[in-house]
Amino acid sequence: MKFTTLLAPLALVGTALADGKAVVAALTKVDETTGKLGDAVTKWKGDIFGTLPIIAESTTLLVQVKKGTKTAEESEALDFDATLAVATATNNLVTSVNTTLSALMDAKPKFDKLLMSPLILVTLGLQKRATTDMSAAIIAKVPAELQELAKGLVAPIDASFEQAIDAFHPF
Ligand SMILES: *[C@@H]1O[C@H](CO)[C@@H](O)[C@H](O)[C@H]1NC(C)=O
Repeated sequence: MKFTTLLAPLALVGTALADGKAVVAALTKVDETTGKLGDAVTKWKGDIFGTLPIIAESTTLLVQVKKGTKTAEESEALDFDATLAVATATNNLVTSVNTTLSALMDAKPKFDKLLMSPLILVTLGLQKRATTDMSAAIIAKVPAELQELAKGLVAPIDASFEQAIDAFHPF
């Protein structure tokens, strides 16, 4: 009896810790795929065949962002340490989203030539919404006193999407 009452709080801490790690792992995957997508865009010569890896990475990214949202939703509340780890992973993602979306904007003339820019615009809209959902799910698990800070931390991701969407918008 005493033993279980002693272990119960420990078990809870263990869950929160594992959940924090799962959220960081999900963010890391999203970050890596964002980087791969950026590489695929940067390497792309403008041919139709070369769009395949771009579409593939982009699809993988969307799936991973949705998985990240689910992981965050199923997570226990994150403690300060977990929040710090998540913040670091988020910061990495801010950088790679900026790099990848900048590459995408640079490549717009090539997408225009293949009449693919409307497709990119739709994809960007989907990615933005999925990313906003993921951020919201993560922020909901951050300690209340850190939520404003967390919102500020993810804001550049939203701003990057806004820029890219503006660039691909025909009017
Ligand atoms: C990337 O970051 C730079 C420097 O902060 C900024 O000037 C630029 O607008 C950003 N680009 C995108 C697509 O987020």
